[in-house]
Amino acid sequence: MRVGNAGPPGPGCPGVPLRPPARLPDWRRLAGAALEVTVVGSFTRLGYDARRALGPWADLDEVSLTGRTVMVTGATSGLGLATATRLATMGASVRIVGRDPGRTDRARDAILAATPAADVATYLADLADLDQVAALADDVEARESRLDALVHNAGALLATRRWSPQGHEVTFASMVLGPALLTERLLPLLTRTADLAADPPSPARVVLVSSGGMYTQRLDVDDPESDRGYRGSTAYAKAKRAQVVLAERWADRFRAQGVVVHAMHPGWAATPGVHAALPTFERVLGPLLRTPDQGADTIVWLVAADDAVRSTGRFWLDRRSRSTHYVPGTRETEDERDRLEALIAAAISPYLASTPTPPPD
Ligand SMILES: NC(=O)c1ccc[n+]([C@@H]2O[C@H](COP(=O)([O-])OP(=O)(O)OC[C@H]3O[C@@H](n4cnc5c(N)ncnc54)[C@H](OP(=O)(O)O)[C@@H]3O)[C@@H](O)[C@H]2O)c1
Repeated sequence: MRVGNAGPPGPGCPGVPLRPPARLPDWRRLAGAALEVTVVGSFTRLGYDARRALGPWADLDEVSLTGRTVMVTGATSGLGLATATRLATMGASVRIVGRDPGRTDRARDAILAATPAADVATYLADLADLDQVAALADDVEARESRLDALVHNAGALLATRRWSPQGHEVTFASMVLGPALLTERLLPLLTRTADLAADPPSPARVVLVSSGGMYTQRLDVDDPESDRGYRGSTAYAKAKRAQVVLAERWADRFRAQGVVVHAMHPGWAATPGVHAALPTFERVLGPLLRTPDQGADTIVWLVAADDAVRSTGRFWLDRRSRSTHYVPGTRETEDERDRLEALIAAAISPYLASTPTPPPD
């Protein structure tokens, strides 16, 4: 298992040719490295604009997603709505997940306003509620014949500690337990959709929208749900760190089944979520914040680009894989990774048991 994945790509899916990251000219690599050490320069729109100008930066308008089905959670607002809207313009059948029927319908209408011929369907679930996530998975299995990509975008930074119906802390439940259950339950559909015999091979994809905030936290398996004291930004960053570790673990587990998994961070974008949770941050950075489309760009790229399936289990910003650790003392051990998977399994396993077969008449 790789930790800190900025080196050459690990093995991808069987049959998908590996390609090391494009070797940039020295001046471009130096400029890129200088940008990365300045957090504000890297995470704001300055970083996006500079990397786009430095290239290489493929034009996604050239990519057709016709025939592919992509599910995006948290698609009622901000980055999720921008992602789903862009994917629909590229021809994808878009499946949006919201938790409020009115907001979800309005998101569908906004996508259709941008692309009137788009194939958009809505699903409802609060990702923190495992009963609702299990029902969502049943609904998807019943209604969909394929799923090419699953984007775990839903998330929020919560000022006060809240509990899910199953008694889990909501940040951890909505960004770790819910996505884990949804992924496990939809894995058979993703696997059925993956076509490694195609030319070029077409793995299914899972994308976790993490955050640069995760750099500040070590994986916490002793107190993942902040029982020992709650601070919204810490709970948020811990859950985002767990997502990055999960992406690496799932990548190893799902590779043979034709499913590629990546985590990413969008930089800092002006969204309703940032406005609600971080108003001072929003005011200070003002015009330096990315637009939702700029924040969503790497999510769309990970769903659409052939280059995104030449590796698996990586962490991306602005279409390039990045180190998962910059801050000393944040590297987890293999034992801690095992414990994360064990505690997730304990929470979601009641929802994974096979449906009992009815007794014979
Ligand atoms: N914007 C940034 O600068 C930034 C930076 C780093 C990471 N991120 C991450 O990017 C993702 C999108 O954030 P955003 O900035 O676009 O925020 P946003 O505008 O608030 O959108 C968040 C979306 O997640 C949904 N959501 C939140 N909790 C949910 C739950 N328990 N169940 C179901 N849906 C839930 C929201 O649904 P409702 O409409 O029902 O509230 C909304 O659709 C999040 O994971 C966030 O942590 C954002």
